[in-house]
Parts: sequence; structure tokens; C-alpha cells
Amino acid sequence: MLLPKARGTLSEQLFTALREEPGTAVVLDAAVADDAEDRAIALWASYELHYRGFEDVDDRWEWSPDVLRVRAGLEEVLESELRERYDAHRPERTSDRVEDLAKDLFDYIAAHDGPSMARYVQTDATEAQTMELLRQKSVYHLKEADPSAWVVPRLPTGPKAALMELQFDEYGDGNPARLHQHLFERGLEAAGLRSEYGAYVDEATVPVLESNNVQSFLGLHRRLRAASLGHLAAFEATSSIPSRRMAQGLERLGFPDEIVEYYREHVEADAVHEQLAVRDICVPLVEMEPTLADDVFLGAFACLDTEDRQARDLLERWGVDA
Ligand SMILES: [Fe+2]
Ligand SMILES: [Fe+2]
Repeated sequence: MLLPKARGTLSEQLFTALREEPGTAVVLDAAVADDAEDRAIALWASYELHYRGFEDVDDRWEWSPDVLRVRAGLEEVLESELRERYDAHRPERTSDRVEDLAKDLFDYIAAHDGPSMARYVQTDATEAQTMELLRQKSVYHLKEADPSAWVVPRLPTGPKAALMELQFDEYGDGNPARLHQHLFERGLEAAGLRSEYGAYVDEATVPVLESNNVQSFLGLHRRLRAASLGHLAAFEATSSIPSRRMAQGLERLGFPDEIVEYYREHVEADAVHEQLAVRDICVPLVEMEPTLADDVFLGAFACLDTEDRQARDLLERWGVDA
């Protein structure tokens, strides 16, 4: 992947610096960002240095203090905006007993009421809209499960084993052909779209970039490990039924079987993953570290909120009443 197009003053400065030799003195300041879009693409690129990197960027930039400093400034904005929104949607828990956590978490996720992109695809979306959705979704699905992988070494025995069980499935159960990222890649190709990692990042909407950034942010900070797992729990718990709707919508529109298969795979897999994520990962972690309970809900909110914002933004562009 090559560096994406800059979207403002900060990303322009950052990408210009990244094309230089590492160690080149650069002055980067998150405060010069023009707007949310400029911040989102700059943060996305600074995170990608930790994933697959860029062909036009020397890998040593990953740990450059200059880049880390600008990343920290961008994360500060991301976190304070996220916490502000969460404060308005904090769960009203009647007890903080760990025994109630699973039920409270499932209830919190179920009570969340956002626009359903999957329902729209199931019954009404056009082929062009669905193609656009797949391009937007490719930014995440081509690295599906990777942001949660950062958390593995930070967990105690029980939650670690359970997270690895879930991740093993995401990574194909030992079969590269079943890797979820790869299933999506094959689906994109069959649908006549580009399947290289990051192929569509230049057209990614701000909510899509922000949703990717939130996952990397939670995954890369040890202090937010419980939020990363709460995000995972909400992601898995809101995937099975929408995946069935997506599969039906894609079939309705005559999309090739490979892309339908990606969603079919998630109908059953995520019905299992949601149980693992809530009961075997989040609950035992909070049992061991009770102060992490609120972070689990923060993470769950982050998932629901960023998914909503992506859906609402696209539906609005298409003139659909959500
Ligand atoms: Fe998956
Ligand atoms: Fe899953």
C-alpha cells in the first residue's frame, strides 16, 4: 500500500515527512489540523505504520518520537470526543455485581437503537450503493480481527485463552483460505472490486476512518484493554443477524457467491463469538479486575456509535431516511 492522499494541512505535512529518511527533523503538531477529516486520515496513517506499513515509507518511522507525538495529540481529540458521547449514553446499571455483567452488557447492546444498513441492503439498496458499501467496509474487513490481536499479551490466563479461541476462528482455524480477511478479499475480487489492502482508503468517509481509528486506538493502549474487548463484544453481538440480512441482500442483487459466503460465514461464527466475547473474555476479566467494568461499556458504546455514524452518513448521502 502507498500513503493515502492528504486531506488537509496536517496530513500533508505528515505524509511529506514520512516520505523522507527517518530521523529527518520534522515539526509536526496535531493542532494544525484543518478539520476532522484531516485528523482522521493523519491518525489512520500513523496507525497503519504498526500494521502493514506503506511501500513509500521507511518502516523505521513506526517508532519515531515525532510521529508518536502527533499521534498522541490526535488520540487526545479522539478520546475526549468519544468519552463525551459516551457520557450521554452511559448504562444505568442497577448493581455492579460481576454476575450481572453479561446480562447488562447484552441488554446495553440490544437497547441501542441505530439505523440498520444491513436491513436496507436486504430489501432496498441498489447495486451501486452496495458496491460503495463494500468499498467502505473493505478498509476494516481486510484487517478484520487485527486490532483485537494487540490485546492478547495484555490479558491474564482465562480471558487470553478465550480471546485466542475467538481469534483463531477469525484467522481461519489454521486454514488460510478460511481467514475472514481472505474471505472478504475473495468476495471483493469476485464482485469486480480491488482487493489489495487499503485499496479504497482514499474514498473512505470520515466515519469509516474514525471507526478504524477507534479500534486501533483501543487495541494499542494497554490502559484501554477492557474497552477494546467491550468493542469486540458489541461488534460480535451485532453481527450475526445483520450478516444474514447482508447475505440475503447480496443474493437479491445477484452478487457472486464469494461475497455472499463472507456474510454467511458470519451468521453462525458470530453467534458463537458473541458468547465467547461476553461470557469468556469480558466477564472473567472484570471478575479479576473489577475497576475495568465501565471500560467494557465504553468500548461497547464506541463500537455501536461508530457503526451508527458510518451507516447514517452513507444513508444520508444516498438520500435514504434512516
Ligand atoms: Fe470475522
Ligand atoms: Fe467474529
